[in-house]
Amino acid sequence: MPLFKSATRELPEIRAIPRHIAIIMDGNGRWAKKRFLPRIAGHSKGVETVRDAVAASIEQGVEYLTLFAFSSENWRRPVEEVNLLMQLFVSALENEVAKLKKNGVRLRVIGDLSRFAPKLQELIRNAEAATAENSRLHLTIAANYGGRWDIMNAMNQLTREKPEAAGHWTETELEAYLSTAFAPEPDLFIRTGGEERISNFMLWQLAYTEFYFTETLWPEFGGEALKAAILSYQRRERRFGRTSEQLTESR
Ligand code: IPE
Ligand code: IPE
Ligand code: MG
Repeated sequence: MPLFKSATRELPEIRAIPRHIAIIMDGNGRWAKKRFLPRIAGHSKGVETVRDAVAASIEQGVEYLTLFAFSSENWRRPVEEVNLLMQLFVSALENEVAKLKKNGVRLRVIGDLSRFAPKLQELIRNAEAATAENSRLHLTIAANYGGRWDIMNAMNQLTREKPEAAGHWTETELEAYLSTAFAPEPDLFIRTGGEERISNFMLWQLAYTEFYFTETLWPEFGGEALKAAILSYQRRERRFGRTSEQLTESR
């Protein structure tokens, strides 16, 4: 049995505080450019914002926080920026894991990790193992992640493991192989930096997620900004296909 309700097959329970928030952390480069700094300075500042977002999520009672850190298309960036981002990823893992562990945070990294340097892959495995007992906040970093990759990867695994069911797989079977199988579907999606697009993030999982776009650049997005996004979420009417009248009647 799947652990969580699917927005398309059942009616998920709705809470005042989104149980799962997924964020595209965008605008680091522009933040740096405005200050005549190199782009990587924006990425470093962005790591500090991740700390704030984690603290605010714990304070608000959010259970799952998924952050898009590097997309499967970000390899197209200049090689120097890609290399510096990888170094930043390594140093963030080296510096933050002990604190995450202490604060009850379980860290996971999703995406095609095989393209990362062996040292980075090992750091990721160790960080996941070190925090595996925690459950206060499930913090997931999407790195070399793409929504299409996630779906294709799940389909290919399903084909290998259940070839006899090919041609009549169900959503439930596919979902068990998605990289987010451990989490409920996101209730709230946030994209900072002003762009209003999904950039190949969680294509399957966001089917009924509420979207929130803000001009605020990621390095300037703090706990208060997260609260503002939650407030906006609380004003939404999540209908999952039904009419507004049906919702009033069932209350
Ligand atoms: C997001 O910030 C971080 C990554 C994609 C790694 P950007 O680097 O995309 O910042 P902008 O969009 O250029 O301002
Ligand atoms: C999306 O941001 C990916 C991450 C934040 C990691 P981008 O800045 O790469 O997205 P596009 O290219 O503008 O759509
Ligand atoms: Mg960007």
